Amino acid sequence: MRRIALFGASGSIGRQTLDVVRRLKYDLVAVSVHNNTEALASIYAEFRPKYVVITGNAAPPAGVKPLYGREGLVEVAESEDVDTVVVATNGIIGVFPTLAALKRGKRVALANKETLVAFGPFVREVADLGELVPIDSEHSSAFQLLNGVKREEVKKLILTASGGPFRTWPKERIAKARPEDALRHPTWRMGAKITVDSATLMNKGLEVIEAHFLFDLSADEIDVRIHPQSAIHAILLLKDNSLKMHVSRPDMRIPIQYALTYPGREEIPIPPYLPPDEEVVLTLEMPDTERFPALALAYRALRLGGTYPAVLNAANEVAVFAFLEGRIGFYDITAIVERVMEENPFAHERTFEGFLKAHEWAARRAKELVSSKS
Ligand SMILES: NC(=O)c1ccc[n+]([C@@H]2O[C@H](COP(=O)([O-])OP(=O)(O)OC[C@H]3O[C@@H](n4cnc5c(N)ncnc54)[C@H](OP(=O)(O)O)[C@@H]3O)[C@@H](O)[C@H]2O)c1
Repeated sequence: MRRIALFGASGSIGRQTLDVVRRLKYDLVAVSVHNNTEALASIYAEFRPKYVVITGNAAPPAGVKPLYGREGLVEVAESEDVDTVVVATNGIIGVFPTLAALKRGKRVALANKETLVAFGPFVREVADLGELVPIDSEHSSAFQLLNGVKREEVKKLILTASGGPFRTWPKERIAKARPEDALRHPTWRMGAKITVDSATLMNKGLEVIEAHFLFDLSADEIDVRIHPQSAIHAILLLKDNSLKMHVSRPDMRIPIQYALTYPGREEIPIPPYLPPDEEVVLTLEMPDTERFPALALAYRALRLGGTYPAVLNAANEVAVFAFLEGRIGFYDITAIVERVMEENPFAHERTFEGFLKAHEWAARRAKELVSSKS
């Protein structure tokens, strides 16, 4: 019986985690939401969690005394009442409960990308004190593929990307893409920010950086292939040139459930990617960094190291929300990220506080660049 704290309970990953928790009858001890009062009220009415954390402006359910903000998340992550912390918030706030829970020897089921991308070295430092199990589908697959494989037997990890809604669009058409075009993801249903990241391929770039920190692989050891069917989530190229793949339906409840049941498995009401009555065609294409420059930018940030991934992530976040608000164009997102990376004044910072400062600076600088364009 797992005693679970679910941060970001009202989001896309959060709601799917609630589905798994409900089915497996796990104990939901704590939840957090940011602004969504209605979702909090209905989650509270159903699960009656002992702790409610509010990180934004949501109103607490009647009679509930909530905890607030980053401190509230950390207090819950450290609580004796909790053994598993699901971090499914947006933004870098996820790093605080992640570090706190790992230091206390707990399991962190991590969906939040920003935590590893921006603060990878600090998460790695404490990862072995607890159990860090990824939720992101590609990393969950890689985690399972690497199980029982010796490090020296791995030549490459290949992450797959659906290619997003603009996979077949020419550059001139992509340049004019509107938010509603970018939000039309062909295979996955996700929150708005990550859906735009999938359209630019920045999502895959962030995942390459995450994979580096999770599995101790260099940029040269991580490749990307476009796989429009979203059935293969990760591939290992082994020493003997054989390939090991992990295949499932594109449904986040599968990796979410695995992060909670690991090392065991439970039944799930999702069919295998093996329809009995139709041909299965799985294709792999090379990514086009000319039409999708974000992927190359993420590799550059990973190779530069230090605060560059944090700067890339912060600038991208600001630019994506500006695009969603119709303030900038699609290719302005990567133009802003590139410019902010080039100006990074925190290249030599090595402390956690230094990384935080770099994040805050990059977000501010990206906002200035958005204002100058809009
Ligand atoms: N969706 C996916 O399939 C998927 C897959 C892999 C990884 N991820 C990662 O998982 C995380 C969540 O993604 P999502 O798609 O579930 O996002 P989402 O649908 O936008 O939900 C985000 C959740 O975080 C809360 N939140 C928003 N801003 C916050 C802030 N500044 N501080 C604390 N909490 C905040 C939201 O609360 P309110 O609803 O109250 O605003 C909501 O509960 C992201 O890091 C994403 O990259 C998602």
